[in-house]
Amino acid sequence: MGCKIAVFGTGYLGATHAACMAELGHDVLGVDIDSNKLASLASGKAPFFEPGLDEVLQANIENGRLRFTTSYPEAADADFADIHFIGVATPQKRGEFAADLSYVDSVIADLAPLLTRPATIFGKSTVPVGTAARLQQTVLGLAPARDDVEVAWNPEFLREGYAIRDTLQPDRIVLGIDRERPGRAEQVARQVYSDIIATGVPFLVTSRETAELAKTSANAFLATKISFINAMAEVCDVAGADIIELADAIGYDPRIGRKFLNAGVGFGGGCLPKDIRAFMARAGELGANQALTFLREVDSINMRRRASTVEKTRELVGGSLIGARVAVLGAAFKPDSDDVRDSPALNIAGQIQLQGASVAVYDPKAMENSRRLFPTLEYAVGVAEACIGADITLVLTEWEEFRNLDPAKLKTLVREPRIVDGRNCLDPERWRACGWTYNGLGTR
Ligand code: UGA
Repeated sequence: MGCKIAVFGTGYLGATHAACMAELGHDVLGVDIDSNKLASLASGKAPFFEPGLDEVLQANIENGRLRFTTSYPEAADADFADIHFIGVATPQKRGEFAADLSYVDSVIADLAPLLTRPATIFGKSTVPVGTAARLQQTVLGLAPARDDVEVAWNPEFLREGYAIRDTLQPDRIVLGIDRERPGRAEQVARQVYSDIIATGVPFLVTSRETAELAKTSANAFLATKISFINAMAEVCDVAGADIIELADAIGYDPRIGRKFLNAGVGFGGGCLPKDIRAFMARAGELGANQALTFLREVDSINMRRRASTVEKTRELVGGSLIGARVAVLGAAFKPDSDDVRDSPALNIAGQIQLQGASVAVYDPKAMENSRRLFPTLEYAVGVAEACIGADITLVLTEWEEFRNLDPAKLKTLVREPRIVDGRNCLDPERWRACGWTYNGLGTR
């Protein structure tokens, strides 16, 4: 028998979670205040690009297991859910490092007064350590069912582009419960995830604080790994070594591992950059700021990648970008996504334009979002249009389409066959053989 589940927030995290819970056989209601988003989801179309998500949405809307509403009372109704997941965004606060928890807080403020029966609230959003315990206190004050409403934390580790797979076949499930007063949360989570647990996926029960920290420290580790290899790329550049060969050479050590050792223009997106900053801010509040000062360095190595790519481009066109024509291939923060939040590609394109170049951007999926965020850049309908008359071509997101480009064909379109491979995703020999000046980051 499936459970009845409400999922609050239908952005990246919430929409994927709602669709996947229905896929597991549960009866799911996705709740959001944004009726446009809900209308799109209810028609079986996610308002963002995620491979495979539309199919899961459509199948579960058709079989009646997945619905959407703006109504909190409908979600908390006696006939409906006693299991509530929170999957709203926790962006960076304006002008501060800390996370903005206003969306999480407002879900609790609207939901808790409606909880008249025992219920379990599972937080999935990435939050500063200590949030779940604080929300438990708020719930205690607002919910008629008082301490029969439990707040547990069940962080989400999904990656954009692999959201469905990461949700249905996760590496692990982490559940943070109130260790002093363990209630039903573990039993409820075991029921919700029973099909996944049955496949042997590790299910870790921890305190709420450990669960919250598991998420932020996982992202901090990943960011550190990327900045580590990018710092090594800086050294390779001055030492005449090659970062790809170096990453292979150290990556074979299973203690290090080759994954997340791809040097390039660095990390972006709606998670890693803001999560390391929020983590530093929270550690500071708790009096452990020294513990995370290294994350400042991780952040600045990462931001330096963008500046040095702009610099490299300027040098390659002869010392000044004024009047240069630059083709930028890629705008999304990574391939298989249309997300341009804090995207290194768009940031670099913008900086180059500000230095006087005319920049034409093309991305297979992120054009609409890019235009909205950066309306002053020029957008091309395809690679060819972006590259016509280019003095230099930059590949800044490693889409398959760009990996497979034909250097001979592209050469007939550009003014100068110069390429900067910002993701080290092209075959230098192939490009050089066709007469291109190839420049990777940290490679020769
Ligand atoms: C990240 C984490 O990987 C997820 O586990 C986590 O759940 C998610 O944040 C989140 O907090 O919601 P995501 O932001 O989708 O997922 O993207 P990643 O695949 O981690 O890539 C992040 C950035 O690092 C991208 O800009 C990517 O291009 C860059 N990257 C990644 C590198 O520059 N080099 C690498 O070797 C790997």
